[in-house]
This record gives sequence, C-alpha cells and structure tokens, in this order.
Amino acid sequence: MDTIVSLAKRRGFIFPSSEIYGGLANTYEYGPVGVELKKNIIDAWWKTFIRQREDMVGIDTSIILHPKVWEASGHVGGFSDALVDCRNCQYRKRADHLIEEHFAAKGQEDVPVEGKSDEELDAMIQEEHILCPNCGKFAWTPVRKFNLLFETSIGIVPESESKAYLRGETAQGIFVSFKNVMDSSRVKLPFGIGQVGKSFRNEITLGNFIFRTMEFEQGEIEYFFDPEQVDWKKLFENWQNDMWAFVTKTLGIDPEKLRWREHTDEERSFYSERTVDLDYKFPFGFKELWGLAYRTDYDLTQHMEHSGKDIRVVDSSDGRKFTPHVIEPAVGLNRLLLMTLVDAYWEDTEKNRTVLKLKPALAPNKVAVFPLLKNKPELVDKAREIFRDLSADYAVAWDDRGNIGKRYLAQDEIGTPVCLTIDFQTLEDGTVTWRDRDTAEQVRVPVTEVAGKLRALLLE
Ligand code: GAP
Repeated sequence: MDTIVSLAKRRGFIFPSSEIYGGLANTYEYGPVGVELKKNIIDAWWKTFIRQREDMVGIDTSIILHPKVWEASGHVGGFSDALVDCRNCQYRKRADHLIEEHFAAKGQEDVPVEGKSDEELDAMIQEEHILCPNCGKFAWTPVRKFNLLFETSIGIVPESESKAYLRGETAQGIFVSFKNVMDSSRVKLPFGIGQVGKSFRNEITLGNFIFRTMEFEQGEIEYFFDPEQVDWKKLFENWQNDMWAFVTKTLGIDPEKLRWREHTDEERSFYSERTVDLDYKFPFGFKELWGLAYRTDYDLTQHMEHSGKDIRVVDSSDGRKFTPHVIEPAVGLNRLLLMTLVDAYWEDTEKNRTVLKLKPALAPNKVAVFPLLKNKPELVDKAREIFRDLSADYAVAWDDRGNIGKRYLAQDEIGTPVCLTIDFQTLEDGTVTWRDRDTAEQVRVPVTEVAGKLRALLLE
C-alpha cells in the first residue's frame, strides 16, 4: 500500500487534503491525473449501467434531503457503529474492526464479526483479551453505539435553525424521487434508477488510504420490480453477472483477486432477503467493493408510512395496486479507483521502470505528445499541431522537459498507453514515433493513421 500511496502523491493522483495546514486525517484531494481516472471510472459505470440499458434511467438528487427521509429510512435510529474507547490512552476504535484485526493477526481472516450484538462484541474482546493497539493496555470501555450521519443545520438565524443531515447514502434520494421518475418518464417495471454522488459518514475507524473515508462517492442502483411477475433470485443472479463483467472486463481487473461473500443471517439487515458482497483482495486483505442486496419493499413502504403519500404502482392488466420490490447494487467509486490503481501497478524489473497497466479507456491520458527538442521551433510547432488535433477527441499530455527516456518513464507511471515523439523525420515524411507503454516498443506511424490506431486501442 505504501508504494501505491507514494506513487499516487508523486504523480498527482491523490494528495492528502489541506496539507499546507498540516492535513486533515483521512481526507484526500484528487490531483490532475486522479480526477481524470475517477471521471473515466464514473463514466464507464454510467455508460454501462445507465446509457447502454433500456431498463435504466439516471438521476441526481440532493445531498441534504428532508430530515424525515432519514427517520423513515432508519438511519437516524439505527445507522450506527459499535465503538470502544481505551480508558488508558483514549484511543477509539470500531469494535468489529478491533476484533477482525486481532483475528487477522493470528492468521484467522474469516472469523464472522459483522452483525454481532454489542454484548457479543464485548464478550469477544474479553475472551480474546484484545489489547489496545495504541498503548498495549487492556482497559476498554463497554461497547457503545455511535451514529454515522453527519448533522448540519438549516437556517442562518438560531430561531429558524433546524437539524438536517448530509446524506449517508445516495439510495434514499432515489426512493423519494421514485414517484416523480415514474410519472415523468416512460419507464415501466421492471426498471432501475441509478445515481452517482457524494455520501458522508462519520466513520470511527478510517484509514487504508481512500478505502474508508468520511466523504466518498457512491454509484447506486435501485432496480424496481413486481415480485409477482419477476423471479428475484434470477434477477439477483443477473446483477451478479453484470457486476462481475464490469469489474473484470470494463475495468480489466484480475478475476483471481475477486470473490463473492454471502452475508450471514446475523449480519444481514433485517429487511434484506439476501445480501452478497463482491470483495477485492487489496494489499490489506479481501475487502468489500460492491454490495448487492434484495431490500424487498422496505424503503418504499417506510417512505409511504412516514410521508403519508401513496407511491404504489398500478398493474394495468388487472388494476392491482402494489409496492415494487428492489434489488440494490451499491458500489463505492473511490474503492473502484483504489482497486484499479492496485491492480494496474507493475514493476517491470527487466526495464527498470514502474508501469500502471490501466485499460486504455481508463487511462487519465490516452496519449502523450513530445517534441524531440524544445528549442527547435519547427518541431515544437508540428508537435503543437498534433496535440491540438488529438485533444479535440482525447485527453492528451504534453511534455517537452528533459530527455525522451525520462518523459516515457513519467508517462508509464501514470498509465499513458501511447507516447508520440515528433522529430526531424516527422518534418520529412510525416511519420511519428509511436511508443507502446506495455512493451516499450517503438514504431514509425504516419500522423494520418494516429487517430485511427488510438480509436482501436480504446476499444480493447
Ligand atoms: N445503499 C446501500 C449502501 O450504502 P453500503 O454497503 O453501506 O450500502 C455501499 O455502501 C458501498 O459504498 C460499499 O460497498 C463501499 O464500496 C462504499 N462505501 C461505504 N462506506 C464507505 C466509506 N466510508 N468510504 C468509502 N467507501 C464507502
């Protein structure tokens, strides 16, 4: 992980936030190439799950919703983590993470901890006599609950102040807009609504770089269907296949590093019939990337009860009124990005270089353009012309600093699939040097063929 974190900072993918003020723990900024990579991953998600499907539409709802939304959804009452404090050094930790890390250190990765009650967690800490990782003492408080919703207030004068929350998931915006989407578009069941956006959680245990942060981006889908017409088990399986295909084919991730993990009865939310996680083997172990849950009609029913509005659907064939059920694939986009970075990282010992073997479609820059010498105006002008032409369609990097070898190495580290060098031969015969990231091979290509070759590469 340290290698990835340092590459991410050195090359402008991800920086610690507010660094000139000493930083703010577990908050990050996406730098010039990080923002492009994130955007490419989000665009791939949106294209695959919204644009290319007849049965999906997109939406963009507010971060601050009516506070009653979070009461109805159960977040105000029950969206909490269990924590313990060390009485000796005041170190605070999520109880389940403390126990998981303790077992992992003993080589027992798969001891079930999620979903345990506070009393059960207390008992496990006592039985295992787990010491404080910070001071080494055994002086834990009993397990307590801690709500994850970030509170804020609406109104500038105190009298009109009222409590509100930053959304803890993007999903609730979809549920409360369900009726408006049904009424305003020509969708019919079964269909899904997808949304990408920031969510906020006052997480107790953070860390592992961008894996768990207070502010993160989710890509969530609520797929609505009539349980009398659709076999949910089949639908669930279809979603598993679609998620798998996205991760392995679109993002190009090694399938050997992926696994499905079924939630136990204990850890599954009470309203969910079935939940599975798609996990990726990060350098700190197999961890959740993407959750898939059959949430039944729980959320829509809750919102009907709390709002007093009927948002049921009418079956046009027999007039039956019913509440649609949902299957929810919910992914953390920052986790997709972290996985993509980890999976693409390659130390090419033969050529003594570091390469990010990103799928070309995800690479922050599709191509880099170099004039061989920056003090030869005829080379610079020709290179600028090529840069301008290509940048109408692609993200193109420009570099005229240092020697060509160093420029190649810098592009390898940010995953640029192709580098083009414009030299004196270009001025004579209209060809450029096309250098491939993965093989480091160089061939001469006519400038007129560059755009076509790039287009083909992006389809890989
Ligand atoms: N609507 C369901 C829901 O929000 P979740 O499992 O809590 O389910 C979905 O979150 C996904 O969001 C997770 O699989 C994970 O990828 C991502 N996620 C959750 N909490 C996160 C955090 N603190 N930092 C980064 N990503 C997070």
